[in-house]
Amino acid sequence: MTLLEVRNLTKTFGALMANSEVSFDVERGSIVGLIGPNGAGKTTLFNCVAGLYKPTSGTVTLDGEDITGLPSWKIARLGVARTFQVVRPLKEMTVFENILVGAHMRHRETAKAAEIATRCMELCFLSSYRDHLSGGLTIGNKKRLEVARALATEPKLILLDEAVAGLTSTEVKEMVEVIRRMKDEGITVLMVEHIMEAIMPIADKLVVLNSGVKICEDAPRAVVQNPEVIRAYFGEKYSRRLRTEGKEDDHGCDA
Ligand SMILES: Nc1ncnc2c1ncn2[C@@H]1O[C@H](COP(=O)(O)OP(=O)(O)O)[C@@H](O)[C@H]1O
Ligand SMILES: [Mg+2]
Repeated sequence: MTLLEVRNLTKTFGALMANSEVSFDVERGSIVGLIGPNGAGKTTLFNCVAGLYKPTSGTVTLDGEDITGLPSWKIARLGVARTFQVVRPLKEMTVFENILVGAHMRHRETAKAAEIATRCMELCFLSSYRDHLSGGLTIGNKKRLEVARALATEPKLILLDEAVAGLTSTEVKEMVEVIRRMKDEGITVLMVEHIMEAIMPIADKLVVLNSGVKICEDAPRAVVQNPEVIRAYFGEKYSRRLRTEGKEDDHGCDA
């Protein structure tokens, strides 16, 4: 069953067409990767889905409900959470307090919010940093904190914008594990990612954008062989590496 349906979504900034007639579905419980070169329109698409931008035209449907153009707080309430490409936790707050902010979106009662925050903290491997100020965390922990705070809003759909970018290979593996755990919890994931080694083993489907246009939508294994995607994004050499290294049992993320 479809959870998110994007139809003919167009977003322009003056003369620039950042998204052009983009359509795709995200099935409930799946992990979908959104990939493509810098400037392809990935973050813009996220912003249109999450209500930070109003689409110029087209529709966004969540769980059968038209959410096109709703303000971001309403879309968050309806079950869409997102993380940002540039992490921005509240530096003067502890890890736990940051996650609690997310949990308070749905729960005024402190005990219930704390219970949810604790669960999300555990799920994101942050329990040992509970009372640390978030400003002093490593980038890997900061990125997982962003995810934990988003999860604490109890979303149906989570949008991850380059959650793995800039991480060490160990941190990449931790994040991939967190994403797997989210899926096990029944949360649907739409993720923008450049690190193919992180996304290939977990994505059910990839959607490829180039210059605002969807050029491919397929299983990861098919996408890495798609001539247009190779031309626009991977290049021959990287594509060959992905095809030969991307075995089913290979979760190597040392990009
Ligand atoms: N708020 C904005 N105002 C004007 N142009 C924007 C804005 N946001 C993004 N763009 C432009 O839209 C295009 C797509 O950007 P973006 O969605 O950030 O790409 P990606 O995330 O795939 O790298 C780029 O050319 C970018 O400069
Ligand atoms: Mg981006």
